[in-house]
Amino acid sequence: MSTSLFQRKALITGAANGLGYAIAKSLAQTGTFVSICDKDSQVIDVGEELRQWTDVVYAEVADVSQPMQVKSFVDNAAATMGGIDIVISNAGIVRPTRPTKDSYERAVQDFDDVINVNLRGVYLTGRAAIPHMLATGGDIVNITTDHIHTCGWPELLDHTHAQECPWKDVQRPPVGSKNFDIYDSSKWGIKGITNAWARDLAPHKIRVNSFGMGATITPMFLAVLGDRPLPSGTMQADDVAGLIVELIAEGPNGRTGDDVQVWAGHPTVLPPIGLEGRLTMIDLVGSN
Ligand SMILES: NC(=O)c1ccc[n+]([C@@H]2O[C@H](COP(=O)([O-])OP(=O)(O)OC[C@H]3O[C@@H](n4cnc5c(N)ncnc54)[C@H](O)[C@@H]3O)[C@@H](O)[C@H]2O)c1
Repeated sequence: MSTSLFQRKALITGAANGLGYAIAKSLAQTGTFVSICDKDSQVIDVGEELRQWTDVVYAEVADVSQPMQVKSFVDNAAATMGGIDIVISNAGIVRPTRPTKDSYERAVQDFDDVINVNLRGVYLTGRAAIPHMLATGGDIVNITTDHIHTCGWPELLDHTHAQECPWKDVQRPPVGSKNFDIYDSSKWGIKGITNAWARDLAPHKIRVNSFGMGATITPMFLAVLGDRPLPSGTMQADDVAGLIVELIAEGPNGRTGDDVQVWAGHPTVLPPIGLEGRLTMIDLVGSN
């Protein structure tokens, strides 16, 4: 079952470029009202572009690591749209880090920079938005990464839905990724926030999921790739954004507390809701 997103009220962070831009565009194209922020002032032009698809658009330059900027953006978004019922915390930065080589000063700086945007940003955005959502219910989706998973699609539980999956019988090693200690920690932290909020907010009919993806063509990915050729199977931001829209459209009885993962080189589809181990709102609070 899927729920209409027409005239729902969505807030997306980090929407000037890449995946955030693709999500904002996909939602606007369904008629969802959208509010977007980014530290890059290009977000204002993106807001102008989105007006061709939906009636209400709000855009603000804001840094998700700064509490007052986040609060101001969220409150302005709620006032402009007449509420908030979808939050996509997407803004993030990546920085390769090397425990064997980096100076201690650099290690401290990298920790502060990455945690402040990726983890604190998700926390601040959600905490500012939740009071606006309590009366209406809705969806929070926090963007993570494929690094923090230990198996291929769709997790180690059951591959029967994916006979075509090239990693069907292969479990990825249960260790993290080299050169990403802080980045991966920030994304593991987001899973913790997501799981706790899923429980806290279920009685208010707010679903909370994290969504992590493998290599997806965006400015961030291309910068990390550098001069190397594009690996085969790299995903398109529009396709990944479409799955996030599908996740939200599951509606009030859909999954919650899930860590949705989509993988480069695998089918770009939403892992089935009915897989063993997945919680739905019905498990937590009964049918709506
Ligand atoms: N592209 C991939 O392959 C990939 C893979 C896994 C996870 N991710 C995650 O997806 C999300 C989006 O990544 P992307 O690839 O689109 O990156 P991107 O760099 O292309 O876009 C990120 C956007 O976030 C904005 N941003 C950065 N710091 C900000 C801040 N402090 N406040 C407000 N906005 C800020 C940037 O200006 C940019 O517009 C990130 O959380 C990233 O970690 C991406």
